This record gives sequence, C-alpha cells and structure tokens, in this order.
Amino acid sequence: MPTAVHQLLADHLISFESHHSPFERAIREIPLPVIDEFQHNGTLVCPEFVASNREIVGDTADLTRDAFPALSAQLGNFVLTAVRGQSTPSGKRIAVLFSGGPAAGGHNVVAGIRRILGPDNTLFGVKAGPKGLMNGDCFEIGMSDVDAILNTGGFDFLGSDRTKIKTDDDFERVLKTVKDFHLDGIIVVGGDDSNTNAAFIGEYLAPHGCSVVGVPKTIDGDLQVSDLVPISFGFDTATKIYSEIVGNILQDTPSSRKYWHFVKLMGRSASHVALEVALQTHPAVTLISEEIADRSLSLGQVVDQIATVVVDRASRGINHGVVLIPEGVIEFIPEIKALIRSLNEFVASRQSELDGLSLAQRVALLQTGLSGELAAVLAMLPESVQTKLLMDRDSHGNLQVSQIPSEELFIELTRRRVAELNSSVKFAPLNHFFGYEGRCGAPTRFDAIYTFNLGLVAGAMTLRGVSGAMAGVSQIDSGGKGVAIPLTGLIATERRSGGDHMVIKKALVELDSPAYKFFESRREIWSKSDVFSSPGPRQLWGDLGNQLPMSVALNRGCRSLQFEIGTRFSAQ
Ligand code: FBP
Repeated sequence: MPTAVHQLLADHLISFESHHSPFERAIREIPLPVIDEFQHNGTLVCPEFVASNREIVGDTADLTRDAFPALSAQLGNFVLTAVRGQSTPSGKRIAVLFSGGPAAGGHNVVAGIRRILGPDNTLFGVKAGPKGLMNGDCFEIGMSDVDAILNTGGFDFLGSDRTKIKTDDDFERVLKTVKDFHLDGIIVVGGDDSNTNAAFIGEYLAPHGCSVVGVPKTIDGDLQVSDLVPISFGFDTATKIYSEIVGNILQDTPSSRKYWHFVKLMGRSASHVALEVALQTHPAVTLISEEIADRSLSLGQVVDQIATVVVDRASRGINHGVVLIPEGVIEFIPEIKALIRSLNEFVASRQSELDGLSLAQRVALLQTGLSGELAAVLAMLPESVQTKLLMDRDSHGNLQVSQIPSEELFIELTRRRVAELNSSVKFAPLNHFFGYEGRCGAPTRFDAIYTFNLGLVAGAMTLRGVSGAMAGVSQIDSGGKGVAIPLTGLIATERRSGGDHMVIKKALVELDSPAYKFFESRREIWSKSDVFSSPGPRQLWGDLGNQLPMSVALNRGCRSLQFEIGTRFSAQ
C-alpha cells in the first residue's frame, strides 16, 4: 500500500491524465493576439469583406470558369480583404470539418471560428472529416467546449479522413446534411485536395444558400499563395520538431564518428519540409526533389552525388554525416516518374486483372505492359519499393509516398557506389523516417496564433456569406491582414490515376526562390565539414518563441525571423 506521501504524489500524477499534464495546462494559457479588423473596444466583431483589385487567375481559367459557373459569378476571381464591421450577424448555423492528415493548430482554427461566431450563432463539428459530412455526423460545439483544446496538437476533437466527395450520390448526401442541420456555411480545414473538394461542394451548394470556405492546412507546406497564404498551417510546428531531432542526430555524429544517417522527412511531393530542416540544421547532403526534376538527374546521378560527398568527407577523416531525403523524391526522378505514370495508367485500365495476384505475378503482368526501359527500372527496384509502388492510390488518386522506403533504397545504392569509388571508405548507414511525430505536437506560437486568426477569418467569411474562397492571413510580419482567396483561381488540371482532374496546383519549391538560392549558396560548405546547428526544442515562451520558418521569412522578404500577427488583445 502506498504511504500517505505516496498517495499525495499518486493523486497529483493521476490529475495529469486526459491532457492535463503541467505542459498541457500551461500551453492553454498562451495568449492569442487578434488582428485589428476583428476587434473593437476589446471585443470581437465580425469584419466585412470587400473586393480588392487583385485577381487570381489559374493556368486553366476558361476550363475553371465552365466548371464553377456559380462561384466564378460570385467572386469573379478577385481577392477579398477584411475591413472592420459594425456588428456580428446572428442566427447563422455553420459546420466545420478537418480533412486529410493532421497538422498542429487545427484545434485553434475551431476555437477561432467558435469565438467569432459568438453566442448568437451555432457551430457544429463534423466528426471524421468528409465522410462525416456525408453521413450527417455532426454535434454542436458550445462556447466553452473549445477552452480545453486551445493550443493543443492533433485533430482528435473532430477526427479526420481522406474521402473525396465526387459522385452525384456523395453530393446529394452532403446536401441532405445541409438541410437536416439548416446549415448556412461549411468550413473545410484541409490541404490542396481538400480545398479542391471545398470548391466543388461550394459550387454544388450555391443554389441552396450554403457557403463553403477552406482553411489552408498541411505540414507539407505545398499550399501557398504568395503573400496571401505565406504558408499552410502545421508546417512550422512539424519542421521545428524535425529540426530538433535532426539537430540531435547531427550532434551525435561527431561524437560517435561512425554513422551516416539517411533521414526521410514527410512532406509528400514538395521538398519544402526538407529545405526548411536543412536551413535550420545544415546537414552534409539534402536532396531537393524539384532540383532533381529540373536537372533531369537520373537515380544513378543522384546516388553518385551522395556517394561523392561520402568519399570526399572520408578523405578529410570524416566518416559520418546526415542525408535528408524528401518523402516524395522518387516521384521526381525522371525514369521513376515515367514508371509511376505508366503504372498508374496500366493499373487504372487493368485493375480487375491485377486484383488477387501476388506481388511477383503483378510485377510480371505489369512488365508486359511497360516499355523495355521502364520494365528494367521496375525490375531494378528492391521488392519493398515495388510493393509500395503497386499499392492502391488514396481517394484523391495520390501515390502513398510516405510508405515508400526511399531512405533504404538510397542507402543500398549509395553503399554500392561508395564501394565502386573507393572500397577502403568506411560507410555505416542508419535509416530514419520522421513524419507522424511532427504532425501532432502542440503548435508553435506561430502556428497557434496564425491558426486562431485563420479560424476568425474563415468564421467571418461564412457569417458574411462568402463562398468558394480560402481564408488567409497575410502581412504576417506587420500585424496580419484577413483575406479571402477565390479557390477557382488556384485550380488547374493535373493527371492522376490515368485521367485529367481539376485540382488546386501544389506549390513546389521554386529554384529561383530566395530560400532555395540561400540553401544553394551554403550547401557545399555544409557538405565538406561539420558546421551543423542544433536548434533545440521549439520554444513556446519567451522571445525565441516568435520565430517564423526560415524559408518563409526568406521567401517573403522579411527583415528578420520575427513574426507579428495581431495586437495584444487576446480573444481567449
Ligand atoms: P495532408 O496533405 O492531408 O495534410 O497530409 C500530409 C501528410 O502528412 C503527408 O506529408 C503524408 O504523405 C501523408 O499525410 C501521410 O498520410 P497518412 O496519414 O494517410 O499516412
């Protein structure tokens, strides 16, 4: 039996359960300043949205206008800006859902929406993402319900999924939910595919008086619209968590002096995450998928670059290092990209024949449909990679790149190439994949404040009947400004699962961007000797907590890493 003293401590420890650790209690108190247009005399007031003269026009403007006649007529592709309003509308019924993978700050988006709706409007949470919207799985969120989730990570308050709403039946089921709950607005918190979904739902619901808006979420950072959406939320938290771990590994390397760590970083297609972590930690090698595609580097050439650094460092007595690998890199290597494209077409047209076959039988059948060159590429890949390339695509037609062990592929090929270049070089590789651990941590101060204000903007948009637009907070280093960006201006045509589809174009790393150029100017120095940095854990209190992602600060032309969103007024 525990003594009385033990019992006291035991009770104290039990009080930490269900998200009440000292850390979780403290983070709920972190102040969330509000941008000026949303406040008046110390209270929140819903702003108005006025059309600016800034137009967003996509690559396939004519096609988009035809596909979204109602939304195009409403917004005409012009960005709206938030200006101070006189009062907050009342009697509106709004629903919010998460869509896709979790990203830190999602709970603050819900809190921001709840706060701007105030007591005279109703907010429903949709459980388990788009599927829940079709099933009418909604519950009412009270004013105090959001207190417990403020500044916490994860999407567990609502749940999420990756269902694409695409068939007539799917849209009718969404309409039924709208009618059952008398909804005036729906807010979709998601990435590029989910915001594409928001545009299609918005178009469908336009005659029914229900507006649909999106909120830019994804740790991948590939949902960016110039200064209007400088970055999707969750990117800062994820990259600061990955940078801490990579920094720790880098710190280990000159101590143990024997390992090469190959680290795959989550981020799907774009290399924003890998670039940001490289800027924060300065490892020996960082692959940037967009550069590989731009320079049409073959798999052999990429491996040769890594192996050359390994051999060069060995000649300087350094038998250790870190290689960062963006999650989606193999989709950018020309011969593998061509292979994936052919596989997608083949799988889409001969799915029934492939069902039920073993991997070896599938590979054999696929080889009959591939050109000799591509069949040879498929045969060269390890079985673990072949299996994943043949896996089912997600509901949006995406290859599930997080499951492809590209770090193992690069280790194996680098091992062979190093032996060819210099068989006396010691090469002891270890592999890592950092992904899920970065998605759900408690948000950084940037993500916490940014998302709370994104929630205010999205909630205000639905209260004002704005539809087919994505909420944005621009001017992130000078107070913040609420904007509504027309989704139709972001949509383009992309080839997926053997067909052309209208989707929001992913923002990839641009090779003429200031962030990439800075990386390019430093990487040779980082490869030759240990000049790494260990940024440490993300800071939530004190001056160090006010830092923007480095790539964002560079690309937005900021003078420093400091962000500034909102004034001291805090709407908790
Ligand atoms: P979103 O684009 O939905 O935000 O997802 C981001 C992501 O974390 C990717 O980086 C990764 O490829 C994918 O989710 C993994 O998804 P899952 O959770 O289905 O394994």
